[in-house]
Amino acid sequence: TRAYISCDMASVALGADDIAEALTAAGCTVIRTGARGLFAIEPLVEIETTDGARIAYGPVEPEDVPAILDDTHPNRIGDLATLPFFAKQQRFTFARCGITDPLSMADYTAHDGWKGLAAARALPPQAVVDAVKASGLRGRGGAGFPTGIKWQTVLDAASPEKFIVCNADEGDSGTFADRMLMEGDPYCLLEGMAIAGHAVGASHGYIYVRSEYPFAIRALNAAIERAGPILAPFTVEVRVGAGAYVCGEETALLESIEGKRGQVRAKPPLPAIQGLFGQPTVINNVLSLAAIPFILAEGPERYAEVGFSRSRGTMPVQLAGNVKNGGLFEIGFGITLGELVNDIGGGTESGRPVRAVQVGGPLGAYFPPSMFDLAFDYEAFAAAGGLIGHAGITVFDDTVDMAAMARFAMEFCAVESCGKCTPCRIGSTRGVETLDRIIGDRIKGAAQREQALEAMPQMRNAKVKHRSVDEEIGVLRDLCETMKFGSLCALGGFTPYPVLSALDHFPEDFGGARALPQAAE
Ligand code: NAI
Ligand code: SF4
Repeated sequence: TRAYISCDMASVALGADDIAEALTAAGCTVIRTGARGLFAIEPLVEIETTDGARIAYGPVEPEDVPAILDDTHPNRIGDLATLPFFAKQQRFTFARCGITDPLSMADYTAHDGWKGLAAARALPPQAVVDAVKASGLRGRGGAGFPTGIKWQTVLDAASPEKFIVCNADEGDSGTFADRMLMEGDPYCLLEGMAIAGHAVGASHGYIYVRSEYPFAIRALNAAIERAGPILAPFTVEVRVGAGAYVCGEETALLESIEGKRGQVRAKPPLPAIQGLFGQPTVINNVLSLAAIPFILAEGPERYAEVGFSRSRGTMPVQLAGNVKNGGLFEIGFGITLGELVNDIGGGTESGRPVRAVQVGGPLGAYFPPSMFDLAFDYEAFAAAGGLIGHAGITVFDDTVDMAAMARFAMEFCAVESCGKCTPCRIGSTRGVETLDRIIGDRIKGAAQREQALEAMPQMRNAKVKHRSVDEEIGVLRDLCETMKFGSLCALGGFTPYPVLSALDHFPEDFGGARALPQAAE
């Protein structure tokens, strides 16, 4: 009997290794795959039938093996493709993830692997860049800059040496798509990088992975070794980051690869003109590069026909936080936020009403359910005062304290700031202090102030100007404006998004009246 079980870090954390061991002990041939992407049903086992179909069971425990093998397990799901979570997806980038053995070259080739690279190498570089432009692909790291135009800039830059850098420093809260792809289908990323190399005239690439992803680092290194002959003359190496959020910013990342402290460089010059070691460099997110093989193999029209407005193709959306069906859902742009959170995500895990969702990581805006008809699209989100970012959606129920979340955004920025520019380095600390005064007024209230004055009666008549909560909120808004327009990079520049959206959409949490419901134990 052939059994398929994920070796993804999240699946292993949920107990996949123990199940694999129990199935091996029961005489099964166990094949480890990437994750399917729906973590509510993990650990998940799929048993191959005589006609090659797979019957899924999940979640399961090691002692469930006999019931799985004689097909009497109560958590029998059957064909996963029929579950709405999978049936509704358009898997272009993640087509193989969860199906194939990530490191099997034979499996990769049998599932359309290397077709894109072969197609690209049969074309002159300009034609490959044109195909990427025609696909409408935009940078999946968050900024949404057209990938084809970035590649054109590098192709046009005259230099004997150019580089392809993959940004795999996935730091946004609630995101895991880069990790899932690198662990579950590493050859896809390598193929995308080799195509980029051919397109712009670069012969070497770096993948900058965060150190918190040991499984991905292992998978990539093994994949690079095995795929070497196919990738040649293009070569790739992995560089491991040390855990600074700001190293996900492209210029800080380049500094880090060069062996320097991860600090942001002023732009211009753009990395496309003067990037790694001063040479023209394509720097793309994992998901942008992993979308490339499909575009070259299937044709740019096939990719571009899916999507919404100027956002073409698919986005691997990641549902996380207090959500029932947490996982990866790849779909064409245009689906609404409400469909993602309620229909696909199934609402909150706690069963309480959804109160807020944060889209785009710690620098993304918070949206209330009244804005759930917002279409998943770069421009629509920008117009609503937010961003799609890396497409992580973190769900909160009605026990969330939005003033505390706003404070967290400022604190995060203060901790992670690279220190290069003043609005971010100092503004974030002043932001925390201002929010503490706003929150302090509400949480500690008049009783504590009275207590303090009793200890220092001389202060009672002191001419100290105390700002009201409204005045403090005015100061906070001013500060956000300064950070937004005065910061050198997205860390300081986007921290105001969560703060201002919390103030705009949840004013009742700042300075007074709202009694928060207690979370159930
Ligand atoms: P940006 O708008 O400055 O640049 C986007 C990209 O386009 C960069 O690679 C830039 O070099 C390139 N570019 C711009 N003009 C170009 C031209 N004329 N020719 C060639 N290339 C050109 O945005 P930035 O600061 O790189 O990224 C900000 C985004 O990062 C935010 O939207 C945020 O969502 C996202 N982000 C993602 C995280 C993650 O974990 N994936 C973490 C934190 C932020
Ligand atoms: Fe550094 Fe913050 Fe300025 Fe970015 S905004 S350059 S992280 S200090």
